[in-house]
Amino acid sequence: MTRYQLAVLLFSGLCLQSISTAQTMTIWAGVYSSEQAARGEIIYNTACIACHGKDLGGNSNSPGLAGMGFMFLWEGRTLGTFFEKIQENMPTDRPGKLPAQDYVDVVSYIMQANAFPNGDNELPKDLDALNDIAITARP
Ligand code: HEC
Repeated sequence: MTRYQLAVLLFSGLCLQSISTAQTMTIWAGVYSSEQAARGEIIYNTACIACHGKDLGGNSNSPGLAGMGFMFLWEGRTLGTFFEKIQENMPTDRPGKLPAQDYVDVVSYIMQANAFPNGDNELPKDLDALNDIAITARP
């Protein structure tokens, strides 16, 4: 192999690498299942609805969790950050007291309420995996 060929090979390798790192997964990829969101709805209705409202619209003290308000705050961040925020602070009267599975199920319900598509797989409760899923306004 000549030095020129080697250089071409290295350069194309670098290009491929930058393409693959640029492709992060987003919430539009079908990251939760409808069964999981149904479980999350039950949790929401027992642990969150009193403050955040039936349609996730919030009340005079608590922010809404769906629609423009959600995107305004969360666009450009990850589902991991969103999950952590909920796990560390919610419900405000007993933060962190629900099982991790309940928190991730309730996140999937909030995704469904925001009309992000569902898919075949469940949202994992693994923080690293959640941190790989970006919240974007468009697919
Ligand atoms: C007793 C009332 C109360 C309950 C119950 C409650 N929250 Fe909250 N929540 C709040 C208040 C008040 C805030 C605003 C203060 C803050 O961000 O910490 C908030 C903030 C949030 C936020 C951040 C909103 C944003 O966009 O910045 C999320 C997400 C959230 N709550 C989700 C939940 C979930 C999910 C549950 C159920 C597991 C829940 N909350 C239960 C009162 C409540």
